[in-house]
This record gives sequence, structure tokens and C-alpha cells, in this order.
Amino acid sequence: MSRNTIRDIQRMKKSGTPITMITAYDYTAARLIDEVGFPLILVGDSIGQTTLGYENTIPVTVDDIVSATAAVIRGNRKSFVVADMPFMSYQASKEDALRTAGRLLKEGGAQAVKLEGGAPVIETVRAITDAGIACMGHLGLTPQSVNQLGGYRVQGRDEDDARQMIQDALALQDAGAFSVVLELVPTELAAEITEALDIPTIGIGAGPECDGQVQVFHDIMGLSLDFTPRHARKYAQVGDVIIDALGRYMDDVEKGEFPTEAESVRPSPSNGRPQSKGNVTELDVASGN
Ligand code: KIV
Repeated sequence: MSRNTIRDIQRMKKSGTPITMITAYDYTAARLIDEVGFPLILVGDSIGQTTLGYENTIPVTVDDIVSATAAVIRGNRKSFVVADMPFMSYQASKEDALRTAGRLLKEGGAQAVKLEGGAPVIETVRAITDAGIACMGHLGLTPQSVNQLGGYRVQGRDEDDARQMIQDALALQDAGAFSVVLELVPTELAAEITEALDIPTIGIGAGPECDGQVQVFHDIMGLSLDFTPRHARKYAQVGDVIIDALGRYMDDVEKGEFPTEAESVRPSPSNGRPQSKGNVTELDVASGN
């Protein structure tokens, strides 16, 4: 099956087909996501908290996203992969932005990039799309500005902020953005923006009226042990499953119950080379199975 394109995503808005997007930061998750066949993957700068153990997205580097994107691309054949432009990789100048976007495509293998903000980044979005690079906008809560916003709070609650967000969304579309993420935005405002745009809106904590939804992989899998946002539904408790499995492995080792004969190899009496016991073959051992 061939990879989704920007045209497939645009067609989904036109036909009213809900668009599902999920974050991924590594090969294994990307392989699992490929089994389901998501239209969109975001290699988000939420990698900062989910995978790298930072307090927020600010320390994430372009190298972090390039390497994560390349791993995701190796694990996934079907999704249209969007890579986040990290904090301060596009704000200082259009040249920075073009260099970052270029690296995410050339070295990471992404199909598109995403950046945060409204009015201040419109000309940057135009420069990126003029260079032939698909670009996604991100309005509402923009986590790279967490220190300026004073925390992770709902945006667009008062009339002026709401009007500004609608104008920003239209300006992003006009600058060539192919889609806009709306994060922590009141449902009614997200619905109004979705109605006003020809390009799809992808919501996170922005209600059911957006054209699509994006969620952080670790949040919906139950892998975020310290905090899960209210808007995330836990579809599995993978963290608990892993903790239980790790505990049983450690118990088995401590009690001398792992490995058994069947999980061990012995030299062959005939040629002195290692030979496996039970149904584990030499090939299995070599390949790590
Ligand atoms: O980095 C990320 O995961 C994001 C989503 C919250 C949209 O930007």
C-alpha cells in the first residue's frame, strides 16, 4: 500500500471523513500504528516529555526530531508523516525556518512540517510553502510558549482572543498551510474555525466538531505515568502491563527460575559450536527471538 498524500487528507475534509492522527517518536510505535493504517502521524515535540524526560517541549532540538522522524519513517509505510519544528528552530528568521524544514524532509524523511503560532509566523509559513514544503499550523495552546502563556490553559475563551484565532486560522490557510491543529480550544470556537476553513482542522482538547483528532501516543496507551490530560481517553493500560511483566522477569531471575534449560544453549558434542535446547534454534538465538 502506498503512503497517504496531502491530497488524501484534503479529500477527507471534503468528504466529511474524520481524520485520525497520532504521535509517534520511534520505530516500534510506528510499526504498530502501520498495522492499523492511520492517515496521519505527528512526530511531535511532545517527545520532550514522553520520551526524553524533559519538563516541557522547550529543550527539544532539531536533531531529536530528525532522528525520531527517520525511525518513524523506517517503521511506517502508510501514514503521511508530519514533523514538528522545535522551539527556536524557526522563530528567529525565515532562513532558520527553511533550513529546519529542509532537514526534517531531507534527513528525517517527513512529508510535512508543523509549527506553532498565528500572526507572527504567517510569513514564515508562506516561505516554507513557497519552497514546496507542506506545512501544518498549530493554534490555541501552543506549548512552546508555555512560559509566556502562564501554563497549559484553554485558549480563545474571551471574545478578542477568539476573533484573533479565527483570523490567524484564515491567515495560515491563505499562507498555504494544508491543515491546522487546534489545541485546548472551546468546542464552539473550534467548530466555527472548522466551518470557516477549506483546510482540515485537527483538534486536541478542542471538541468533536474538528475535521480530525490528534492524541499523544503515550497518553492514550496509559504510558504517561505522571500525568494524563483530561481530553485524553486511555484506550489501554500498557504502563501497568509493562510494570507487571518487568516485575515477573525480575522475580524469575532472583528466584533462579530464568533462564531454564530450554532458554539456554550448550556446546554441541560433535563440533563444539553452541547448540540450542528445546525448540529454540541457533538462528532464533542469533536473531534475538
Ligand atoms: O507535540 C505534540 O504532540 C503536539 C500535539 C499536542 C498536537 O504538537
